[in-house]
Amino acid sequence: MKHIAILDFGSQYTHLIARRIRELGVLAKIYPTDVPVNELRKDTHGIILSGGPQSVYEKQSPSLDAAIFNLDIPVLGLCYGHQLMAHMLGGEVKAGTIKEYGRAVLTKDGHAPITADIPDTSTVWMSHGDTVAQLPEGFSILGHTADCPIAAMGNEQKRWYGFQFHPEVRHSEHGMTMLKNFVFNICRAEQNWNIDNLVEDIITNIREKAGDKRVFLLVSGGVDSNVAFALLTRALGKDRVYGLYIDTGFMRKDESEEIKQSFKNAGFDNIHVLNASDDFLKPLENIVEPEEKRNIIGKTFLLVKDRASAELNIQTDDWLLGQGTIYPDTIETGGTTHADTIKTHHNRIDAIQKLIAEGKVIEPLADFYKDEVRHVGTLLGLPENMIKRHPFPGPGLAIRILCANSKAPREPLPTIEPRLVPELSHAVLPVKSVGVQGDNRTYAHPLAVWGSTEWDALDQIASNISNSSSKINRVLVLLNPGDSPIELSPNTRTLTSDRIALLQTADALVQEIVKNRGLYDEVWQFPVVLVPIGHTSHESIILRPVSSQEAMTAHFSRIPFNIVDEMRDALLTIKGIDYIFYDVTNKPPGTIEWE
Ligand code: XMP
Repeated sequence: MKHIAILDFGSQYTHLIARRIRELGVLAKIYPTDVPVNELRKDTHGIILSGGPQSVYEKQSPSLDAAIFNLDIPVLGLCYGHQLMAHMLGGEVKAGTIKEYGRAVLTKDGHAPITADIPDTSTVWMSHGDTVAQLPEGFSILGHTADCPIAAMGNEQKRWYGFQFHPEVRHSEHGMTMLKNFVFNICRAEQNWNIDNLVEDIITNIREKAGDKRVFLLVSGGVDSNVAFALLTRALGKDRVYGLYIDTGFMRKDESEEIKQSFKNAGFDNIHVLNASDDFLKPLENIVEPEEKRNIIGKTFLLVKDRASAELNIQTDDWLLGQGTIYPDTIETGGTTHADTIKTHHNRIDAIQKLIAEGKVIEPLADFYKDEVRHVGTLLGLPENMIKRHPFPGPGLAIRILCANSKAPREPLPTIEPRLVPELSHAVLPVKSVGVQGDNRTYAHPLAVWGSTEWDALDQIASNISNSSSKINRVLVLLNPGDSPIELSPNTRTLTSDRIALLQTADALVQEIVKNRGLYDEVWQFPVVLVPIGHTSHESIILRPVSSQEAMTAHFSRIPFNIVDEMRDALLTIKGIDYIFYDVTNKPPGTIEWE
């Protein structure tokens, strides 16, 4: 079938580009960058070069066969793809003096079919360090931002275009129109793809992949595994699908009980429950590093699963392991050739990768995003409480409880230029969190500010800081400033049942206010994080509500300040909590979770 070909240079967003093209009713396929040019010659309306984490002038950076530019097929380069086009066609790419992560304002230059129906200025989403400094011959500038003079370029005659920004993410206001312009006005593609055919396709694929095997699936109660479980049950029947809910002990307060009840109410009797909280807590006793925590949790899931399956007498050769993996889990773990590992998702650790390579894993939703998964859940007739739940990570509260080793050597904290935080008090915090910038993982310090309650100003300050400092990847507002210092706990802090209970209490208070104030559907996800810093108890809370559609990008949520105050006051009634912060970092440069 005629389609748009996407060449994958390892961007976190490659699959999202495909997804957006499919939303336009046109088939899109992802190819490795070394795809033979002949394969692209036939059935291709146009080619999109994705972004990627590297610099075009690095030795090992991925390139492509220049013969692609002789095919007489339109090409659109995005971010790294844009730079690669400039580099290969005789322009120049340099490290930008100012790096841009997150929101930027695009101003159109001239008139071109690719920027038709776009206002003269609009918001676009950036994530780059390098920039095109000189146009290749035959190109003209089609748009710029304050910090990026060649944000969009085109060679009308050849039908070659490049965007430094990411039109595929929802936060690029008119990104869809630009993609539509490329697909229909420039590539002249026809609409030939329909998302509602999806469920039947997935069910057929499950039956083909499973053959006569049975499937053993771990369900977490979250949207992804609920929908995967329902799909597998629909495709193979209850007798061939065994669902196991493992209670890790890292769930929200009373959540395990609620999950059991929902399955029962929805008529699934092929779900079984196992309490394994001790198995999970024990190996994490002395662990501080986020990636190590994630790996241990992933392995423990497997050990517990193996034990349970042995007890149940499940012969692995007759069985497949089902997983509710969705696309962002794969890509953020460095799932394609050129992608960087941002964080290892629990269902992508080495042991699972091995099973995948052996063909023993079935993941019906691995190509989809959260909002598509919800769509599939609705098409399957699942009740709202099973598909409208906020996303919750497999490792649960364990990755929302930051740990600290008091004996580890301490580097001096980075400083920041005062002009970046005009008229605000501020402090760099003595902990680190994971972020994503220019398609790479970061692990850096947050900056706390206080003295402003203006969301727009805070948003701007947060962007300026992470764009100009590589040592800071998040900005937080301190909600209860005082005269005491903000110190790291003098004692080692790891995952303990006391700390889990403390976070469960805090999280439950926040969840209750979110629900009572009618914010549950407005906020996409609301992590509440426990960090070992403060002045007396050395435990503090970070509120991290975000709005998002597919988890690949996110805005921090702007909750009304009276409700934020209500949350702060409620949290301060908990014994042992020193400070309350509110995270005002978008993704990128932050990730949604802190670890
Ligand atoms: P980040 O923090 O990477 O999160 O911006 C993106 C989305 O993924 C969820 N998440 C996970 N989900 N297993 C999961 O099932 C994991 O290990 C995991 N880590 C992050 C996160 O909650 C957010 O919705």
